Amino acid sequence: MTIHTLGSENTVLSKFIAEIRDKRIHTDSMRFRRNLERIGEVTAYEISKTLDYEQRIVETPLGEASVAMISDRVVLATILRAGLPFHQGFLNYFDDAQNAFVSAYRKSTKDGKFKVKVEYISCGDLEGKVLLLVDPMLATGSSLVLAYNALCERGGQPKHTHVAAVIASEQGIDYVRKNMPAETTTLWTAAVDEELTSRAYIVPGIGDAGDLAYGEKI
Ligand code: URA
Repeated sequence: MTIHTLGSENTVLSKFIAEIRDKRIHTDSMRFRRNLERIGEVTAYEISKTLDYEQRIVETPLGEASVAMISDRVVLATILRAGLPFHQGFLNYFDDAQNAFVSAYRKSTKDGKFKVKVEYISCGDLEGKVLLLVDPMLATGSSLVLAYNALCERGGQPKHTHVAAVIASEQGIDYVRKNMPAETTTLWTAAVDEELTSRAYIVPGIGDAGDLAYGEKI
């Protein structure tokens, strides 16, 4: 599995990452959502460099221009609800992509731990397409792999899957590496953090991405 850490280069992306981490900016949920969207846009642009293209002729008012257009059929999938602003960033660039949604939630168990359950899935045909599975926080990796399996069970086998995260833990990257097809998976993340808390929050991370984007849940 190929891994790209986009934030390791000094670019404007570092500012977006700094802002989503900064607790003083966390009171501004509109800025938080927009920064997730901006990171989605930057990642979408980088992924677009790896896709297949074909030449097409476009008629201008003054003549004809030959342009390279994406020939891959792209499907954008995310996990509700924290994935929505990140997904929107991808959709801003891949504006004619097909879309898929999965809901996954952490169900607490008696030992104080939790199991991830997939509940809702909306997905079209994936066979032979390029799947972009985008989820801002890759913590343990288990929701992401469950979502991938649920999508493939429903929609068929994509020809390639790009997993995109904003912050990935080392443990989450390792889990994805071991549980997704190595030959046909590429992982993109803006940043990598080392630690996870006992409740599987990434440290230093950002906190709860869903709460920061949409308000606390009970
Ligand atoms: N989900 C989040 O929102 N934050 C984390 O740190 C881990 C998972």
